[in-house]
Amino acid sequence: MSELAKKPSAAGIEEQANYEKLANVIDLYSGKEGCLIQVLHAAQEIFGYLPYEVQKYVADNMGFSVSYVSSVSSFYSFFSTTPRTKHEVRVCLGTACYVKGGKLLIEKLQELLGIGVGEATADNVFSIHVTRCVGACGLAPVVVVDDEVFKQVKPGDIAGILEQYRGK
Ligand code: FES
Repeated sequence: MSELAKKPSAAGIEEQANYEKLANVIDLYSGKEGCLIQVLHAAQEIFGYLPYEVQKYVADNMGFSVSYVSSVSSFYSFFSTTPRTKHEVRVCLGTACYVKGGKLLIEKLQELLGIGVGEATADNVFSIHVTRCVGACGLAPVVVVDDEVFKQVKPGDIAGILEQYRGK
């Protein structure tokens, strides 16, 4: 492992092994073009997602600020900063969806699931996320559950959409 690497002292044995793998990846990519994206991809593969501690570890060991690493992690939809849940509910807040009430859909989801954006339900079935334009602007506002796109969604439709996935 790189001498530079500073792993969190509270990490368990399995986690320590993961941090060692990550340190090797950082050694491999450091200084190369696009290295942060490559390292974050590898980190997500190793840990399953990109929690704050992992983002901080990457920042500390690659010479970036944590806020920069966090902004990259949350900008790209293929990175997840929360553990994967059985179903991921994404509300589009691109311009068309925002104008047509995307925020109201988020509020309804938060109310029905009792969690905030970026959070998971206690049973790990649902999590709420915001996404950028998914290319269905003509049928805004749009909600995406896993890979399924729901168009022209109204707040009153949200309960029914969730119900379809509860037992799945
Ligand atoms: S803005 Fe939501 S699909 Fe384009």
